This record gives sequence, structure tokens and C-alpha cells, in this order.
Amino acid sequence: MNTADARDRLVLVLDMDALPDALALAERLTPWFGTAKVGLELFAAAGHAAYGALHDLGLQVFADMKLHDIPTTVERAARVHGRNGVDFLNLHAAGGVEMLQAGVRGLREGASQGGHSNPIALGVTVLTSESTTDAFAQRLVWAHEAGCDGVVCAAAEVTQAHDAKLRTMVPGIRLAGQDRDDQARAATPDVAIANGADWLVIGRAVTKADDPESAAASVHESVNNALRAHS
Ligand code: C5P
Repeated sequence: MNTADARDRLVLVLDMDALPDALALAERLTPWFGTAKVGLELFAAAGHAAYGALHDLGLQVFADMKLHDIPTTVERAARVHGRNGVDFLNLHAAGGVEMLQAGVRGLREGASQGGHSNPIALGVTVLTSESTTDAFAQRLVWAHEAGCDGVVCAAAEVTQAHDAKLRTMVPGIRLAGQDRDDQARAATPDVAIANGADWLVIGRAVTKADDPESAAASVHESVNNALRAHS
């Protein structure tokens, strides 16, 4: 494994309320991150303009929208995200198999209409801020049946998702000794990679660090070491 492999696995959380601030942070951290996550806060501030601006920095874009509504509404919203060139989009698996199917269909149709390559559709299973995972198994089945490419899950659930032939995007990542904030099911980057996670969502572990570049380099090195150890 080389350093490019770790960068391909790392997704930078841009939970900010202004696009210029998000772009400034993204630009500083592009050596370590291949993808940027646009969540509800940045999307509320900047909308789809964020996607093009992040692509211009050479980053892939994960729209963390957690779409959850009636199937028609989710399909139509996912189609617009697809048309606007998002690389990853998530839908909340609590919405059930029909809603997930509609979202996957809309996303793929939109990408095709916009001339973009096939984006990755992810079903959100159980938020990593929640400590109870009773709903996980059912939501995993729905994500699989609906044709999602993968799921968003905690590091501890990666193996079950892979057994269901789904790829995994894992939030709630913290370096050893760091504050967990509101994340109940947190893990270190090396544990998540050892479990087989495909992508790690990295937020406050880097963005709230006194020295974000140094924290990013630590996460990147830890992922690279874990990839080497488990290749
Ligand atoms: O700062 P921190 O690393 O906790 O950020 C995690 C990010 O991942 C947040 O933007 C949050 O919205 C998102 N997320 C999550 N759990 C999920 C899906 C997304 O924490 N299941």
C-alpha cells in the first residue's frame, strides 16, 4: 500500500456555515483527504455550489443528506443531487426498502442525465451518536434489497455489512485519547481499517484539533499502517 491508498479512504467533514471557510479548510487538508463531506449545515449555507467548488480542488464529494421522506420525494431530490455531480449520497435506511430503491434509482438517473459516472448510494443504518443498535440488522437488509452500494455504519458493524456484500462508510472516528463529543460508538482509525472499513469520515478529530494538518497527518499515517498490516 502507498500513501495514495490512505487518502482514497479518508473523507473530510466540512461541518461549517460558510462556503469560503469550508473551502479554505479543504484546501489546507487536501494532501490527506480524497473526499469532502457536505452535510446539512454547509448545504444549508451553500447548496450545490459546494459540489463544483470542491471538485475544483480535486476532491470527490459526499453529500451527507440522510434523505428520509416519502419515496417520490426522495427519488426526486436524489435525482437532483445526481445531476449536480455528487460522488456519494446517503439515504436514511429507516425509510424502508421502497424509499431506498426510489432514492437509488433517482440518484443513478440524475447522474446519467448530468453526464456523470455512477455515484455511490449509501444507506444510513444507525447513527454513531446512538448507543442502541437494535434497528441495524433490518436496515442492513433493506439497504441490500434496495440496491444500495454500501451503508454508513459504526466500525463495530463493518463485518456484518461486508457479509451482506455492502461497502462501508464509517463515522465516529477519534484518535486514541481524543474527546468522543456526542459519538456513542466511536473507534480509532486503525480499528476501523482493521475491521475492513472502506471509507472513514473524519470530523472533529481533525477539524477541531489545535493543529489540523498535524492531526490529519496522524490519521493518514495510522490508516496507512493499518492498511499495510491488513493487506
Ligand atoms: O466530528 P465527527 O467526526 O463526530 O463528525 C461526524 C460526522 O459524520 C458528522 O458530520 C455527522 O453528521 C456524520 N455522521 C455521523 N453518523 C452517521 C452518519 C453521519 O456521525 N451515521
